[in-house]
Amino acid sequence: MYPLRRNRRLRTNESIRSLVRETIISPNDFLVPLFIVEGQGVKEEIASMPNYYRFSLDLLEKEVKDLWAMGLKAVLLFVKVPDHLKDNEGKEAVNPKGLMQRAIKTVKNACPEMLVMTDVALDPYSSYGHDGIVADGQIVNDDTVEVLANMSVSHAQAGADFVAPSDMMDGRILSIREALEDEGFIDTGIMSYSAKYASAFYGPFRDALDSAPGFGDKKTYQMDYANRFEAIKETEMDIDEGADIVMIKPGLCYLDIVREIKNEVDVPVAVYQVSGEYAMVKAAAEKGWLDHDAVMMEQLTAIKRAGANIIASYFAKDVVRLLG
Ligand code: PBG
Repeated sequence: MYPLRRNRRLRTNESIRSLVRETIISPNDFLVPLFIVEGQGVKEEIASMPNYYRFSLDLLEKEVKDLWAMGLKAVLLFVKVPDHLKDNEGKEAVNPKGLMQRAIKTVKNACPEMLVMTDVALDPYSSYGHDGIVADGQIVNDDTVEVLANMSVSHAQAGADFVAPSDMMDGRILSIREALEDEGFIDTGIMSYSAKYASAFYGPFRDALDSAPGFGDKKTYQMDYANRFEAIKETEMDIDEGADIVMIKPGLCYLDIVREIKNEVDVPVAVYQVSGEYAMVKAAAEKGWLDHDAVMMEQLTAIKRAGANIIASYFAKDVVRLLG
């Protein structure tokens, strides 16, 4: 009577496979990153991110309406700041008429129900291309945190639903939470990039925003990719400091970390499938070496299976089109 169990029975055809499938990708899973530039009528493709674009505000309006019509209900905004507005302290980051602040209003006007999250870090504003203020070749923690808190309040004033600090300074979540509370923004959420690794996969993103570090690297603030316990500690500290959602970044190489954090915490877990991950799939598909849609779905399903409740991904529109 051997075998009593034949596991292949549950794989016989698509009907039974879909009945027992554990992980399903839907438009509700996605947070759509958007790159915004100054100008009129600008929709420019990012060289290292095929079929991904920077939009000026007028075209951003159309883009968010399209996203909403596709069932994509959350965006994560990034701005490309003109060089002449960059400095060491990120003064432009708190300009109420700055590009980010106008972008938030543009999205909310075009589509009031669209959930707007904003990137909070100094790199697009920094003349050094670093996420914090530079002094004597070092990234200064506490002065940076003060700017990040002001920047978060400025985004909330413009109408952001969530701020998403991606800088990895110590103590920033608490300072941001306190600043938001002090200004009465009790419902503005914080999605913290809590386990953000110093990764070579961010290359195309830095092309998109022209934000590569002018000297050195980001290893004194972003985490060493060899480390695991540190990711748990960072994440637990961010939750204690007031993070509503925590994030692990990048995605695919870090799914062990995603699962561990998911098992430890009781807040939603987000994963950022970053620009380099997107670029690799696009490049291999262009060469005809990989099946784009199949690989895309396999990777996103793996990210969700590992424990992601939310996925920030440049593939969001591709997925919705595929799902039909
Ligand atoms: C900036 C920031 C980066 C990304 C998101 N926010 C780049 C960096 O830390 O250098 C990367 C996103 C991606 O690669 O898609 N703080």
